[in-house]
Amino acid sequence: MHCSTSALLTLLAGTAYAAVGDWQQCGGKNWSGETTCNAGAGCVKINEYYSQCQPGAAPVPLPEPISSAKPTTVSPGTPVVTTTPSGTGPGRTLQSGYLWIRGVAAPNFHKYMQTSPILSTGPAVLGDYTKAGQFQVVSGQLVQLVSAPGEPVKLLYANVSEERSINDMSLAVTFSESKNTYGTFAWGGDDLQWSAAGVNRPNKSAWYVCTGQKMYINLGNYLYQTPSGCADQTIHYYNDKTANN
Ligand SMILES: *[C@@H]1O[C@H](CO)[C@@H](O)[C@H](O)[C@H]1NC(C)=O
Ligand SMILES: *[C@@H]1O[C@H](CO)[C@@H](O)[C@H](O)[C@H]1NC(C)=O
Ligand SMILES: *[C@@H]1O[C@H](CO)[C@@H](O)[C@H](O)[C@H]1NC(C)=O
Repeated sequence: MHCSTSALLTLLAGTAYAAVGDWQQCGGKNWSGETTCNAGAGCVKINEYYSQCQPGAAPVPLPEPISSAKPTTVSPGTPVVTTTPSGTGPGRTLQSGYLWIRGVAAPNFHKYMQTSPILSTGPAVLGDYTKAGQFQVVSGQLVQLVSAPGEPVKLLYANVSEERSINDMSLAVTFSESKNTYGTFAWGGDDLQWSAAGVNRPNKSAWYVCTGQKMYINLGNYLYQTPSGCADQTIHYYNDKTANN
């Protein structure tokens, strides 16, 4: 993979949270734009001020700096699944390109999206801020960062069950190592939405939080015929450095 920085055009994606296209800038000392590359591409450090998305590249910076300056944190966000153990995870400081997701109304005011147990495959739950997961929507997938800064990037994908549960109006959401094949996640303003061809939802932002704080997509109306044991919820991104109560 040959690359020449001079031949590169830096075309910033206009939309917030869009992944950076191949061969475009995804990082550097003064870079404040998007840091997430397209699926299959990695953010590769060219020099101190310029990193670019390279198709098929490893997610960690390749060249060692010539100067004595050590690279600081590695830009996460490359959708590459590895078998590396997740270790301590991304921690309680929001990593570049990621977002917290939380409820903003009772009974789940400032409860944050996470997996149970944290950083592993399992049901999506809305829980304590100290266990908040870090997320991003990439190409319609809701991804959770589970690797620590400096480790090979490891992601889990929100998997929407095609099988209806609770009252025949809800779809269970779990986190899995393979990509979701049912429907598309997207931000509608700051709220997390899900839609699928052939599924007519009156409110794309409607979720249920049920027994055990487990999260379901609500296919019906918000605040209408709420199943027992569940609460209606919309969930929103939050991008402060730390999750709080
Ligand atoms: C990067 O930012 C620093 C501090 O704000 C500034 O001094 C420097 O000129 C910038 N470098 C480039 C290449 O923009
Ligand atoms: C997604 O969830 C469904 C229902 O829980 C399950 O049958 C399916 O195997 C899961 N898919 C993945 C990729 O984990
Ligand atoms: C969905 O429900 C939420 C909560 O009541 C509301 O704020 C939002 O406007 C609704 N969206 C639509 C498209 O009706």
